[in-house]
Amino acid sequence: MKIIEVKENKKKYIELLILADEQEDMIDKYIDKGTMFILYDNGVKSECIITDEGNGVVEIKNIATLPEYQNKGYGKYLIKFIEEKYKHKFNILRVGTGDSILTIPFYKKCGFKESYRIKNFFVDNYNNPIFECGVQLIDMVYLEKTI
Ligand SMILES: CC(C)(COP(=O)(O)OP(=O)(O)OC[C@H]1O[C@@H](n2cnc3c(N)ncnc32)[C@H](O)[C@@H]1OP(=O)(O)O)[C@@H](O)C(=O)NCCC(=O)NCCS
Repeated sequence: MKIIEVKENKKKYIELLILADEQEDMIDKYIDKGTMFILYDNGVKSECIITDEGNGVVEIKNIATLPEYQNKGYGKYLIKFIEEKYKHKFNILRVGTGDSILTIPFYKKCGFKESYRIKNFFVDNYNNPIFECGVQLIDMVYLEKTI
């Protein structure tokens, strides 16, 4: 297993990016300024994009594992990698997500705790309603962990 930084042609991984953020023009807001990592284990399995948010905060903007390889530990491994790589420069690892049973339990397993919410974020910023497991995403939920 190896994790490498991707500096060019990040859109090559759009199949993964769109799993985590289904509206491409929202991805465009952070893809260029973000640092992208790809996890390989006999081929591409997961990706993530992180950004420097200032004040010692590094934020995960996008993280995804290919559907057929989910629940095998790749996402958790990628988060551990980010923590180790950035703990000397940052104090807080943050992530924003919809209030979904597909994502919040994953982040809690990785040691994140809910911090704050932006009310109506998904309604205000996305063209179409987003549903996960039959529930509409409304607020952006921010979770943080000290690194
Ligand atoms: C969320 C996501 C990145 C997790 O990646 P993954 O590689 O499947 O996660 P892991 O296998 O490393 O899971 C780590 C732990 O979280 C748990 N977990 C993952 N998803 C879970 C869920 N929906 N509910 C409960 N637990 C979950 C795993 O069981 C595992 O637990 P363990 O440490 O006790 O074994 C992946 O499901 C995904 O790509 N989803 C679609 C894209 C997406 O929604 N991205 C997040 C946008 S905010």
